[in-house]
Amino acid sequence: TSAARIFSGMQPTSDSLHLGNHLGALTQWVALQDDHDAIYCVVDLHALTVAPDPAVLRDRTRRTAAQYLAAGVDPQRSILFVQSHVSAHAELAWLLNCITGFGEAGRMTQFKDKSLKLGAEGTTVGLFTYPVLMAADILLYDTDLVPVGEDQRQHLELTRDLAQRLNSRFGAGTVVVPDAHIVKATAKIFDLQEPTAKMSKSAASPNGLIELLDDPKVVARRIRSAVTDTEREIRYDPVAKPGVSNLLTIYSALTDRSLPSLEAEYDGRGYGDLKKDLAEVVVAFLTPFQERVHGYLDDPATLDAVLSDGAERAEALAQDTLARLYDRFGL
Ligand code: ADP
Ligand code: NA
Repeated sequence: TSAARIFSGMQPTSDSLHLGNHLGALTQWVALQDDHDAIYCVVDLHALTVAPDPAVLRDRTRRTAAQYLAAGVDPQRSILFVQSHVSAHAELAWLLNCITGFGEAGRMTQFKDKSLKLGAEGTTVGLFTYPVLMAADILLYDTDLVPVGEDQRQHLELTRDLAQRLNSRFGAGTVVVPDAHIVKATAKIFDLQEPTAKMSKSAASPNGLIELLDDPKVVARRIRSAVTDTEREIRYDPVAKPGVSNLLTIYSALTDRSLPSLEAEYDGRGYGDLKKDLAEVVVAFLTPFQERVHGYLDDPATLDAVLSDGAERAEALAQDTLARLYDRFGL
């Protein structure tokens, strides 16, 4: 039997991914390539729900793909492509829109939160049906496993419900019902200035964020001014010491050193030492990473070739599923 199919993607909604995206998602994607049949996508159609400037979106799509590659997504072993290059995503999304209940979609908490912020006139129908497009992304590839964070869990549940609905309407085996792929080992990274909030591109202040394409000097400064606490002890205790614990998590994830060994090394030493050393560790990671990203961005022909090869391979799989479903729906 063949390896389980994995599908995952991120939106091209910022110039740079951040360290949370890297340690929470990309490193996991790279590891999953070893024993899974992996498909990784830059989901640019999803990014349209926030009305980006066209030139900015186009640039961010390429930058996001270059960061996947720089992190170690291997286009030989995995399929790496841009969502809008495969028209079947939009086409299957329409079919799924027509079997999704209005109330069912309205129960998505992410939509409720976002639309509350945007107001009725600022909220698009695209934002409302975003989880349906995500279901199409997953179902098109007969995906077995979807790596999901907590915030995407409800959307994956909707995907599973839609898959089961298709199978009960059109016969067992019409589509594969995907499961969540839960990774225990994934690091959750917090904001440097507000260490109880997760590091996010929508952070209140840029000082809490480590972007993968930031100037390493700026990153080092942000680490040195990270919020800690008034004790002196360097100990991993996320509840009592969220700031120090976050620094230790980042240190451990980037060096593969265990938390106890870091605690032992910094026993009796100050926060200044920890921050200074961590800044060096992060810069040592970022510098070659950024060189690889710029290598791809400065060679558009190679990046285009990688993405068009990926789109071609994705298209072949997607068209097969789409044709099957068009037939079932009577089209
Ligand atoms: P953001 O919160 O910046 O908007 P996304 O929601 O686009 O990030 O997340 C993209 C991927 O990165 C998801 O797989 C998500 O679980 C992961 N991720 C995002 N932020 C973090 C974080 N702070 N720590 C660990 N993983 C994260
Ligand atoms: Na998010």
